Amino acid sequence: MIVCHCMAITDKDIRGAVDWMRAADPATIITPGKVYRALGKRADCGGCLSLFVDTMRACDTVGVPENLRSLRCAPTEGGMHERRSESRRVSE
Ligand code: FES
Repeated sequence: MIVCHCMAITDKDIRGAVDWMRAADPATIITPGKVYRALGKRADCGGCLSLFVDTMRACDTVGVPENLRSLRCAPTEGGMHERRSESRRVSE
């Protein structure tokens, strides 16, 4: 099935690229942009993106590696900061 009509990318192409990327680097985060690049193409109109992502998510190997899942941390008390002390902030 054609997923991206602009670049003639099929669901089989996407699954193959995702599987190849996961096999090449088990720790990589796989994004639609990386899949396009792996196929030697780039998005044009973007109209396929939701179907493109749905096709990626259907792949067994697309998940975020277990060791990277805990990197997102809860916001700190007082909101987000850039891990700099208050005195080093340029904007203040
Ligand atoms: S349909 Fe995929 S970029 Fe246009």
